Amino acid sequence: MRRIITLCTILLLFSIGHSKPNAKWWQSMSLYQIYPKSFKDSNGDGTGDLNGVKSQLNHLIRSHIKAFWLSPIYPSPMVDSGYDISDFLGIDETFGTMEDFEALVKAAHDASLKIILDFVPNHSSDQHEWFQKSLKSIEPYTDYYVWHKGKVLPNGTVTKPNNWVSVFGKSAWTWREERQAYYLHQFAEAQPDLNYENENVVRAMKDVLRFWLDKKVDGFRVDAIQHLCEDVRFLDEPLTGNSNPDDYGYTDKIYTKDQLHTYEIVQGWRQVLDEYQDKAMMMEVYANLTMTIKYYVYGAHFPFNFGLISDTNRDSKAADFKRVIDSWMLNMLVVDGPANWVAGNHDRSRLVTRYGLERAQAVTVLTLLLPGVAVTYNGEEIGMEDTWISWEDTKDPQGCIAGKEGYEKASRDPARTPFQWDNTISAGFSTNPNTWLPVNKNYVTLNLAAQKEVRNSYYSLYKAVSALRALPAVREGTLTTSLLGDDVLFFARFHEDSVYVTINFGNKEETVDLSPFIQPYNQSDIRLTVYYATINAHHLIGTVFKDIRALKIPASTTVIYI
Ligand code: NOJ
Repeated sequence: MRRIITLCTILLLFSIGHSKPNAKWWQSMSLYQIYPKSFKDSNGDGTGDLNGVKSQLNHLIRSHIKAFWLSPIYPSPMVDSGYDISDFLGIDETFGTMEDFEALVKAAHDASLKIILDFVPNHSSDQHEWFQKSLKSIEPYTDYYVWHKGKVLPNGTVTKPNNWVSVFGKSAWTWREERQAYYLHQFAEAQPDLNYENENVVRAMKDVLRFWLDKKVDGFRVDAIQHLCEDVRFLDEPLTGNSNPDDYGYTDKIYTKDQLHTYEIVQGWRQVLDEYQDKAMMMEVYANLTMTIKYYVYGAHFPFNFGLISDTNRDSKAADFKRVIDSWMLNMLVVDGPANWVAGNHDRSRLVTRYGLERAQAVTVLTLLLPGVAVTYNGEEIGMEDTWISWEDTKDPQGCIAGKEGYEKASRDPARTPFQWDNTISAGFSTNPNTWLPVNKNYVTLNLAAQKEVRNSYYSLYKAVSALRALPAVREGTLTTSLLGDDVLFFARFHEDSVYVTINFGNKEETVDLSPFIQPYNQSDIRLTVYYATINAHHLIGTVFKDIRALKIPASTTVIYI
């Protein structure tokens, strides 16, 4: 006798937190993150640029993307790949000119795509004019950054103000002779923290927002928001028990993360956005759920939901995925804003590398079919994998600071290599055989052009499932989640139409009963069309199952029924 997995008792129905029929564009968008250095090189210098992005907007449109976010494109010494900005109001010449940027905004809007910029408020580059003037105590820049005279020991020696550690490792304080003081940098030494206790800084950064809003951008992804403000008593943070004072995990971040002042500053930015029409602000925040959700209340349109990055992995059980989904959705019952699902970005290992192919596909389906915003990091739609990078080729400061022995574990370069467009030179990314980071050697077979030709490719899955986002059930339907046994996660989206998804995370076939979810209930002969099934990436579009009380779900497979 076939074993029929009976319904797990936990069944949750979420009826709000999804988009309404007259939803704003940012409430239900498919958002695509472009890492400009690695997306498309138009001038053969081996680094991606704005004209390259413009030339590939069709790929976004064909992939049902509604908005794209550009990682930083501003002038930068590129210590942290553009997150060290030396002029908040310009375009780095590697990426093009202001005219190129304006042309890109126009092309995006002509194609009905929204364009979102990275706003990096926590720090600038140490090459920024503000820092150079602050170093020399030139007004009004003297207190633009977080300076401290240091702690005087009983023997008269001056030492670092406290035990704060930088995210990239080692002390967060660096001494400058010119100023006879330490400055704070929560990231690299070359990224001094701006001082939000200073009203001039608060004003200046609001003007940065206005500058780009006047250029018609549609919104901002706000970088590293949890680090924005610090407790100005500059006390030591409690120790965690980790014995290495150079490790970020050495201290418990009670004074350098999630400070209340940060939320007030965010509210001020929202007021600036509201001076314009229909602009959106989304926050990059790595914090606990409470401190993350709070951004919905304090001005953000939404904080990114990193649950599928931080809380699940290749070993997670179906219940772990359900927990990640339900905990976010429960919060959506009380906040005014869309849910959102992020499975990858330029700071984390590639989705396929983290989860393995079959699970990565399941996670892609989750991000695309759960309520709200779906976020895709460029390359994840074709299942790009991490690229091994030698120590000599390493660019990421987090890798460089870790040294030759530790860089492979710390570096984020493996997830940042050029997009694999086709099987020509440099994967069609550049005409130059030397690219800023090496192209993954697997590009010969793993590339967009090849995947377009194959019905069971990662991209075919991505495109087919993305197309479902136009259905009312996915756009604005309620969500039901349930466990069908230990290994099978089920969710459904209901409106006037329905979409059902079963994901078997286990390594053996399971037989499930969907009759409790499908009206009229408890009838065995309802026709369900399999829209897509991933069985080692084979798909079965068009197959019809008749008995919904005994549907077979192969091992490691996601099946979408409509
Ligand atoms: C978060 C960005 O995503 C990351 O790439 C960068 O290194 C830090 N913020 C510092 O700006």
